[in-house]
Amino acid sequence: MRSDTVVELKGITKAFPGVVANKDIDFELNRGEVHALLGENGAGKTTLMNILSGLLRPDDGEIRIFGKPVSFRSPREAISLGIGMVHQQFLLVPSLSVVENIVLGHKEEGFIPNLRNVEKKIKTLSENYNLEIEPRAKVWQLSAGEKQRVEILKALYREAQVLILDEPTSVLAPQEAEGLINALREMTSEGHLSVVFVSHKLPEVTAVSDRITVLRRGRVVAAMENDNVDYAVLSNVMVGRELQKSVSPRRREKGGILLEVEDLVVPDDRGVPAVDGVSFTLSEGEILGIAGVAGNGQKELGEALIGLRSATRGRVIFCGKEITDITPRQAIEKKIGFIPEEPLTIGLAGGLSVADNLILDTYRSSRFLRKGLLDYNKIEGFSRGIVDTHGIKTPDLGLQVGHLSGGNVQRLILGRELSRDLKLLVANHPTKGLDVGAADFVWEKLISLGEEGVGIILISEDLEEIQTLSNRIAVMYEGELVGVEESGRVDRKKIGLLMMGVGKEE
Ligand SMILES: Nc1ncnc2c1ncn2[C@@H]1O[C@H](COP(=O)(O)OP(=O)(O)OP(=O)(O)O)[C@@H](O)[C@H]1O
Ligand SMILES: [Mg+2]
Repeated sequence: MRSDTVVELKGITKAFPGVVANKDIDFELNRGEVHALLGENGAGKTTLMNILSGLLRPDDGEIRIFGKPVSFRSPREAISLGIGMVHQQFLLVPSLSVVENIVLGHKEEGFIPNLRNVEKKIKTLSENYNLEIEPRAKVWQLSAGEKQRVEILKALYREAQVLILDEPTSVLAPQEAEGLINALREMTSEGHLSVVFVSHKLPEVTAVSDRITVLRRGRVVAAMENDNVDYAVLSNVMVGRELQKSVSPRRREKGGILLEVEDLVVPDDRGVPAVDGVSFTLSEGEILGIAGVAGNGQKELGEALIGLRSATRGRVIFCGKEITDITPRQAIEKKIGFIPEEPLTIGLAGGLSVADNLILDTYRSSRFLRKGLLDYNKIEGFSRGIVDTHGIKTPDLGLQVGHLSGGNVQRLILGRELSRDLKLLVANHPTKGLDVGAADFVWEKLISLGEEGVGIILISEDLEEIQTLSNRIAVMYEGELVGVEESGRVDRKKIGLLMMGVGKEE
């Protein structure tokens, strides 16, 4: 029985304008345990962990680390007491290398860190914990999954005793997630590390955690040992109702050809082909699932299709016309929607309001104009409609998007893109960071868009998502599409292996 408490939070309260994000929260973390923190989008998980990691100060309440009351004035103070946090939205410096990001601000290294030694240490850590990374790559060149690994290595490098992981697996392939979970088990088994694990993926939570705490609207609504926990019960405490897995793929008549991609080559930011000779077709109303670990060219493929990146070879034909050199504005005009991998980097403006972001790409259209000027009543009505339909939790339409919770940012981009009149949707991991209720809603919505004839390219690392929604499934690995098959015939284990580059020649 573990008895020593590493972290104790008592009566933590934190309010933002219009919302109480944390209300009188008690939370304990024992030595060597993995403690899962659950709750729907906007429940207050990230806020609580930001308080524990010194990024936010609570309005009220007490933090004790190893029994000692503390009051952090900065993350640096929390780090010096062994608290490391891997954030939901990455905090790395894009122009610096992996090694530089890891040592950045680490005072032990002195003025001129010996980068070769640092690199060696990082290599050892990354091998021990199965967190593969190229130490000299610049962070701006990395995929989301790779950035996640850098963040974890950064905390481990600082010898964190408490590791807070805010949705760490949302960008990992199933096998990678499994690897991380095994690594966490191993790290914690020796008792040197204790972990707070924030996730919406219930199977993962029950696989990895010793205890589970559930937040709802800023309060603790349940705390339990992880012992034969029933998902239905968990969803019930999380969202106040039981979720029915109502979503199932539906057979439909094949429509005409909507999109043809021929031998497409798209370079990444370094100029290296990230998409390396990809060809496929997509019919009207068809959902083509592209599985793959982030960083294998999916991002560049999506960006090329909507005009954010130019191809150096090959052709894209949409509705019978070549659109290889399309611009993003033309893509919108042609009714092509896009859900990017990282909406706050591409797609949304964090400094603008919820309402402004919802009309970013359509404000030119006459629907928001009156006598040539923007009609704010119309904009408000339109925005309110999307906010309500997609359950975007915001105190008002004027809130800066950068202040929404992670899952609500995702709901916002989905709300905007899915409410447009579409012919083609390129969706990169559309349910990333969504709680189970919202994810079900989006799945339903994608299936019904397909039924209406919209062609969908569904890029995802989540095999359950890919299998549930897709008519055909392909795997993207190192810039190539491998193993395109009708979804009914696909074996999940085989896709998982293809994603890791195993069995590619078959
Ligand atoms: N800096 C801020 N300014 C204003 N409101 C904020 C700020 N940070 C968080 N909030 C609000 O606090 C509430 C809780 O947000 P938090 O990010 O803690 O949720 P979460 O449980 O992590 O959700 P998710 O699953 O979507 O990541 C939300 O309503 C959010 O909009
Ligand atoms: Mg969060």
